[in-house]
Amino acid sequence: MIIAIDGPAASGKGTLARRLAAHLGRPHLDTGLLYRAVARAMLDRGEPLENPGRATAVAAALDPDHLGETRLRDREVGEAASVVSAHPGVRDALLAFQIRFASRPGGAVLDGRDIGTVVAPNAQVKLYVTASPEERARRRLRELAAAGEAPAYETVLADLRQRDDRDAGRAAAPLRVAPDAIVIDTTELGPDEAFAQALAIVTDRVGA
Ligand code: CDP
Repeated sequence: MIIAIDGPAASGKGTLARRLAAHLGRPHLDTGLLYRAVARAMLDRGEPLENPGRATAVAAALDPDHLGETRLRDREVGEAASVVSAHPGVRDALLAFQIRFASRPGGAVLDGRDIGTVVAPNAQVKLYVTASPEERARRRLRELAAAGEAPAYETVLADLRQRDDRDAGRAAAPLRVAPDAIVIDTTELGPDEAFAQALAIVTDRVGA
């Protein structure tokens, strides 16, 4: 059973994906980390993020099995990831690994932007997790504060809106709701409620 979870930044899809995977005893892949690792490497080398050739070469050389988490969650890395992920060559270079992960015997839980549309269009369960930009900005601010970063709320909100526009507006695998996805709006939901809704959908779909 493949569970595909997509949605915009800071919508709660990562938390939900991790919990579902743990509950069901399936492996979980946070595909955003792949794009963040490419962005991190580009930033560390001082490479221009807009250069598709360099970004594609970095993506092709990435070892997705050994990403490490070093500074991948920084705010600047999320922004940079959104720039490099728009290059079709970068997406192509990372696709085979994601498809292999999704095809593991017993299934897997993957979260990202294009799991239900591109990586695993045949997934048995597709969820699109979203929330209002203001609520997502509050959540991202709390995460960043816990990690020692302290940007202004307005800055975080503006970043999120810009990232939403970039992710949804690009030509290659844009962020969108797959026709057969079920939308969970977590604006008014805590993590437990979101998990309960998602689990009910999974149970209903696959009779697990
Ligand atoms: O955690 P957050 O939602 O802020 O971001 P993320 O899931 O780590 O993804 C960072 C960026 O990578 C996104 O803004 C997308 O541009 C890109 N991404 C993508 O294009 N496709 C995916 N499957 C996952 C992430």
